Amino acid sequence: MDQSFDVLVIGSGAAGLSLALALSAQARIAVLSKAELHEGSTLYAQGGIAAVLDDKDSTEAHIADSLDAGAGLCDERAVRFVVENARPAIERLIGYGVAFDRRERSDGRLEYHLTREGGHSHRRVIHAADATGRAVETTLLGQVREHANITLLEHRMAVDLVRAKEPDGTPGRCVGAYVYDIAGRRVDLLRARVVVLATGGASRVYLYTSNPDGSTGDGIAMAWRAGCRVANMEFSQFHPTILHHSKVKNFLVSEAVRGEGGRLLLPDGSRFMDRFDARGELAPRDIVARAIDHEMKRVGAPCVYLDISHREPAFIAHHFPTIQARCGELGIDITREPIPVVPAAHYTCGGVATDLAGHTDIRNLYAIGETACTGLHGANRMASNSLLECLVLADAAASDIARRLAGIAPPPEIAPWDESLVTNSDEEVVVTHNWGELRNFMWDYVGIVRTTKRLQRAKRRVDLLQAEIAAYYSAFRVSKDLLELRNLATVADLIIRSALSRKESRGLHYTLDFPEPDHIVLPQNTILVPDRFVAGAW
Ligand code: FAD
Ligand code: SIN
Repeated sequence: MDQSFDVLVIGSGAAGLSLALALSAQARIAVLSKAELHEGSTLYAQGGIAAVLDDKDSTEAHIADSLDAGAGLCDERAVRFVVENARPAIERLIGYGVAFDRRERSDGRLEYHLTREGGHSHRRVIHAADATGRAVETTLLGQVREHANITLLEHRMAVDLVRAKEPDGTPGRCVGAYVYDIAGRRVDLLRARVVVLATGGASRVYLYTSNPDGSTGDGIAMAWRAGCRVANMEFSQFHPTILHHSKVKNFLVSEAVRGEGGRLLLPDGSRFMDRFDARGELAPRDIVARAIDHEMKRVGAPCVYLDISHREPAFIAHHFPTIQARCGELGIDITREPIPVVPAAHYTCGGVATDLAGHTDIRNLYAIGETACTGLHGANRMASNSLLECLVLADAAASDIARRLAGIAPPPEIAPWDESLVTNSDEEVVVTHNWGELRNFMWDYVGIVRTTKRLQRAKRRVDLLQAEIAAYYSAFRVSKDLLELRNLATVADLIIRSALSRKESRGLHYTLDFPEPDHIVLPQNTILVPDRFVAGAW
């Protein structure tokens, strides 16, 4: 099947849906999702969206907090751009119908309730109880379904981007993607004048993660194969408090629990965060996750505990109904007892290098949301700045596309997907085994605390895996698992190479071989260019 659109949006999370909505009056758009349309990190977001909405707060304070959390590596222009555009982004969501929590002021008027999270010097996180992502995703989906101009294609997985040939035969502008129809088990060609990557992050590269199954870095891997630069991949963010329970794989306990007074405790009931940072439980995430990792190793505990039981039961039920219900199903009454928690991979700060309109290195290819690296997060993302970035950059990219679209020629004829040289796989077990192996060694050797020796060990393993996967990929028909494994191996390689190149500790990248930030040279981004490596600005 060969279909053609003005804009092909790969991904139906906050970033992809916001962009599709912003463009729906001007363009024929297809939105792809490799799972059900609502599935992705956005659906599971808990804490909320950071924005300056209180008179006592200021954009300068939000900017300063973001720069501080980013450990010297944020691009201040990116931070300023996102923070200054936060209010209109929130107002758009409210206009679409997102029901953020409100509370009554002393004068009887209603105002939006703002919670607090790590690194923020003010209350500035607007939220819908502890299920903000669900409110955002379902509202945006409801809106896109109203538009005849938007074609929604679920269970369709982009395999690779397609570039037109320049007159001299070199790869030129992006003109679409090969897309695997998971139910039909065939690869279609979807052509478009503009392609937008909004495929989310890559935290499934680690054994333990807060992320849903689809966070396999597909957009980053596709952009890399197509020839885009990728930046700052060593900065994998580990969220400090994922529920630790044998029956649960990836349930987050929101940072807002600490924002509303939750205390981190060792198994003996003592607090420890004050020994690591004056901000205690509300220090930025890299510091809290590293402190927990340190204390778990020091006392030999499988987890630490997060205690909110000193707050009123009615307060807990009102602010954290999702967390209370999930813990309740497992026999943990959070109004009376602490919650067992551990750090786990949560967010990919690096990604496809873009500017502040979402442009990548390839003409007519944009990247937005967690897939992209705009410079906002630097070496460590501040809590609730991610959904904000999705919304602001989706809008910026949509404006740029709307302005340029009429001047972009329709996509040319492209050769269909060729399966003439492959057969059905005879050993699916290889794929399953390699998935497990990859995620295990990434957790063991490329986790919260790194060393050069461990990174080199991981590099040898990923090289071997990549060779095996390439051989498998060229011999057998594709499957979803194989495509995801291929992308995860690419992303793992990018993370390891970036981590090996950083000879210092900064933000989320902590190595025992260089335990301090480099104070001699100015902080550098890690920019990987297909076939070579540079450090500097992009
Ligand atoms: P996603 O929402 O992850 O969507 C990705 C989309 O791409 C999906 O539709 C997926 O199917 C599709 N896709 C992926 N690969 C392909 C492919 N090859 N072909 C076709 N489709 C594909 N951030 C905050 O700011 N505040 C929070 O409170 C917060 N809480 C969080 C809680 C949890 C548990 C998690 C996991 C994350 C949280 N984050 C939070 C981070 C934030 O939710 C994400 O960074 C953000 O939602 C990413 O949005 P996105 O649109 O870029 O991607
Ligand atoms: C949380 O609620 O703790 C997640 C917030 C985020 O990742 O920004």
